[in-house]
Amino acid sequence: MRVGVDENLAVELLADFPPEAEIVRLSRTIASPIDVDFWILPFYRKDAEAAFRQLRGVKVAQSLMAGVDWILPWMPASVTLCDGRGIHDISASEWVLAAIMATMKRMPLYRDLQNQQQWRGFATVTDDFMGETGTSRGQYKILAEDLSGKTVLIVGYGSIGAAIESRLTPFGVTVLRVARSAREQPLVNGISELHALLPKADIVVLIVPLTDATRGLMGAAEIALMRPGALLVNAARGPVVVTDALVQALEQKRIRAALDVTDPEPLPAGHPLWSAPNCLITPHIGGSTPEFIHRAFRFAALQVRHFIAGEPLENVVTDAGY
Ligand SMILES: NC(=O)c1ccc[n+]([C@@H]2O[C@H](COP(=O)([O-])OP(=O)(O)OC[C@H]3O[C@@H](n4cnc5c(N)ncnc54)[C@H](OP(=O)(O)O)[C@@H]3O)[C@@H](O)[C@H]2O)c1
Repeated sequence: MRVGVDENLAVELLADFPPEAEIVRLSRTIASPIDVDFWILPFYRKDAEAAFRQLRGVKVAQSLMAGVDWILPWMPASVTLCDGRGIHDISASEWVLAAIMATMKRMPLYRDLQNQQQWRGFATVTDDFMGETGTSRGQYKILAEDLSGKTVLIVGYGSIGAAIESRLTPFGVTVLRVARSAREQPLVNGISELHALLPKADIVVLIVPLTDATRGLMGAAEIALMRPGALLVNAARGPVVVTDALVQALEQKRIRAALDVTDPEPLPAGHPLWSAPNCLITPHIGGSTPEFIHRAFRFAALQVRHFIAGEPLENVVTDAGY
């Protein structure tokens, strides 16, 4: 059984693969057709489609990313496609917590002040960091906020969404949940409730897959329903948010944002999001930690073992019946 992996894959990541699996290292630019039964897709998206065209006999394609929106358009139905659901739960949910806490505690502002060697905490924070209420609430200057007591709306209550909630719970927040379809215990609202829930949240976390139904899910109308000064966290995919509407709301200082993903991606130099106020951006690194890579290849090895044993595969997205 031939397992195709990236040519640069570190040997230690192959430790859990069974001896029956013949590891085939695939170059980034495969010159001539090559036989592979089980293909572990590279993370480098642009290479993947071209590489696939040079592979022969692929029965299973295993992505190690949770979202397979970028694979589905070119993967034929004759190949069983499996995603990386579950293996990102820790890294992606920790990124969401970090983004929320960084924003609540104004870390980007204080890091900017540090770079300018300015000790301005209690003296003045006069940059209108939170334009909608000025920099004070009542008699108090807003130098940092508590997460405790806030209401967090998680849009996409799947594997990562649930991991986000379990990490938020010790902070004493109220969690509201939205998924494609409604269910009980815990109460998860259907997506039809989104408009009713948005005005109730201080923090809105997007962690849905990118599909036709979620593209543009947060447009001007939805952003307008968010509370003044509310935080929009996008750890899903850039096109889930309408970028122009987001830029406008940020420039008007109506909301804040923390983005691991943007549309377009990579965000080009000079794009208005870079300089939009109250917007923290990281370059799609939320799921990527060294610990994640090890989890990912342990999972891939498990899938290869299932395949060799004729057992059902996990995380099947499209089933070709192998
Ligand atoms: N920033 C990063 O580095 C990073 C890392 C990992 C993942 N992600 C993104 O996060 C996404 C979610 O990952 P996951 O592992 O949690 O996936 P998952 O377990 O499949 O959960 C997806 C959730 O989204 C919901 N959903 C799907 N379509 C929806 C719609 N039209 N309206 C409302 N909710 C909808 C699903 O609802 P049901 O439960 O009703 O089906 C489910 O609750 C991935 O697809 C990927 O795009 C990003």
